[in-house]
Amino acid sequence: MHREPHTARNSGAAEAAGVLGATSFVGQLVLARLQPSRHKSSQLQASQHQASLLDESAATSAVSPVFAFSRRAAPTAATSAAAGIHWQQLPVSPGAWHASIPHWIAVCPLWAVPEHFALLEAAGARRLVALSSTSRFTKRDSAAAADRAIAARLAAAEDEVLDWARARGIAATILRPTLIYDGIHDQNVAAIAGFIRRFGFSPLAGAAAGLRQPLHADDVAAACQAAIGCDGLREAYEISGGETLPYHEMVSRIFAWLDRPPRLARIPLPLVRAALPVANLLPGLASMATMAVRMNEDLVFDHRAAARDFGFQPRSFTLPLSHVSDHAASVAR
Ligand SMILES: NC(=O)c1ccc[n+]([C@@H]2O[C@H](COP(=O)([O-])OP(=O)(O)OC[C@H]3O[C@@H](n4cnc5c(N)ncnc54)[C@H](OP(=O)(O)O)[C@@H]3O)[C@@H](O)[C@H]2O)c1
Repeated sequence: MHREPHTARNSGAAEAAGVLGATSFVGQLVLARLQPSRHKSSQLQASQHQASLLDESAATSAVSPVFAFSRRAAPTAATSAAAGIHWQQLPVSPGAWHASIPHWIAVCPLWAVPEHFALLEAAGARRLVALSSTSRFTKRDSAAAADRAIAARLAAAEDEVLDWARARGIAATILRPTLIYDGIHDQNVAAIAGFIRRFGFSPLAGAAAGLRQPLHADDVAAACQAAIGCDGLREAYEISGGETLPYHEMVSRIFAWLDRPPRLARIPLPLVRAALPVANLLPGLASMATMAVRMNEDLVFDHRAAARDFGFQPRSFTLPLSHVSDHAASVAR
């Protein structure tokens, strides 16, 4: 059942959007949703088929033109123009920036956003949706110093972005996703799948019964798109996947997706815990060991506020067809 979004904006005017982190796997899906050609077709679909709330939101929030920012060289003008996306290479001199971009979606690391405050101000930003992470909470008390540093960095970046936005009358919303996957480009599910492809098994620490809510990258993109199209939202929301499942079940599903027999190599948890003090002396190993321990911790977040306020409706844990992913994974490598 679809609920009404908080206050969906529909000015009818074509207002520009800027995307920071546009080359990332989430960024590409954000661009696909915002690009003007899709905007036209989603408006047509909405009028023809009583589209879903998020597709209706696409019709109200899709904006034109779309400016995609990257620190890398822009794609060729032909590719860029065909997709209706204006690629811009960072850094951009704010003094030389003249185009108005009222809406911004930041899917780059949150702590990179302050580097671009001057650009957003020069472009007349009025609305910003930026990704943080639930790691802000889950890594806060980690045994690994590197994890605690990430949590602290995210918390500080959230404060900095929100303080800056409040001071300038910019309506900012921080979205905190749980683990993001597409099965091909991500560092979570795709990494587990890569290990299974290579070694034929997956190591698990103890029962590995900690609950997870994998969130599809396209649902993150949909959340960004829906939130940018709504006024009066909160300053922060947790966005989690549509299915809650134990870690070992998530791994078993990946085996099934790869059409492989589930070979789970269980390492006794006391052994992993005993190894922690030694692992903590070696930075690379420390994160791996705490990750193993975390397989038994529930990392669960409530996304009802996002559902209520901007119609967030994430899918269950869904992997692409294995033959598609095999091909895509080989291309992605
Ligand atoms: N992956 C997850 O499971 C997960 C979970 C929760 C939250 N998140 C959040 O979701 C977002 C996307 O995740 P991700 O794994 O795709 O992130 P990522 O790979 O770390 O970075 C995304 C993009 O940000 C751009 N970028 C990096 N530094 C930048 C800077 N200083 N200025 C401008 N752009 C910069 C890069 O584009 P260029 O190199 O083209 O400039 C990159 O493609 C991040 O905010 C992350 O914290 C991720």
